[in-house]
Amino acid sequence: MEVIIQPSTAAATRLVARLIAKALRQNPLLVLGLATGRTMEQVYALLADMHKQEGLDFARCRTFNLDEYVGLRPEDNHSYRFYMDHHLFSKVNIERRNTHLPDGMADDLDAACTRYEHAIQQAGGIDFQLLGIGHDGHIGFNEPLSALRSRTRAKTLTPQTVADNGPLFGDQECMPRRALTMGVGTILNSKRCVLLATGTTKADILAKAVEGPITAMVSASALQLHPHCTVVVDEEAAARLEGKDYYRFIFQNEPEWAEFR
Ligand code: GLP
Repeated sequence: MEVIIQPSTAAATRLVARLIAKALRQNPLLVLGLATGRTMEQVYALLADMHKQEGLDFARCRTFNLDEYVGLRPEDNHSYRFYMDHHLFSKVNIERRNTHLPDGMADDLDAACTRYEHAIQQAGGIDFQLLGIGHDGHIGFNEPLSALRSRTRAKTLTPQTVADNGPLFGDQECMPRRALTMGVGTILNSKRCVLLATGTTKADILAKAVEGPITAMVSASALQLHPHCTVVVDEEAAARLEGKDYYRFIFQNEPEWAEFR
């Protein structure tokens, strides 16, 4: 794992957008794993800008989102399908048939999850997985105690997650209590992953995920097992990291990061 600390939220977000753009330019057939949440909105705005200004080409890119709420229709403005259409897909030249989210409306949710895993495999696996982190340490909707080898399945959300995301639904009672999510094991199978965390409220959980023990109580801590995981944070989210100086030293000295300094 490597940790990159950026001076501001805007700089951290921009670095992540540039990493995605670089991966897409290197491989136009990129299989891109996508995340939702407030943190990602600006990443998608930057990618949409890069498409418009620099011709960043999504024509052959395939995407798989981490998760979707159970029971929300795709056209529901609280569904993650709606979020993705709104923030990214409608603003770039991606083919709709190349964009995938778990089917939270399926009659048979288990079968939908199995199909999702199969579709990821058929696409050749995820090349680049974008991740956020929840206040309870979730990646996707892998709430505490998610098995570290779990695959796509239905999960019941924590009260913390309902409190965090409930305001987006207006009335918290309207928020589904369950979601389909790629498993921790699914995420660990991605060839590369990049986690973006910004703001003071993420500082505690981020330090646990990066520097704490690997535990199913903090799903993001499983990323310590990932062979190529980059964590990008702003100063606020980095506040509780003990190894900050070393992480900065790596960023300043690794040739791989020269173009991003
Ligand atoms: C959401 C998503 C996660 C996301 C996280 C953080 O509920 N399921 O994939 O990373 O919670 O969201 P935010 O960026 O709004 O803090």
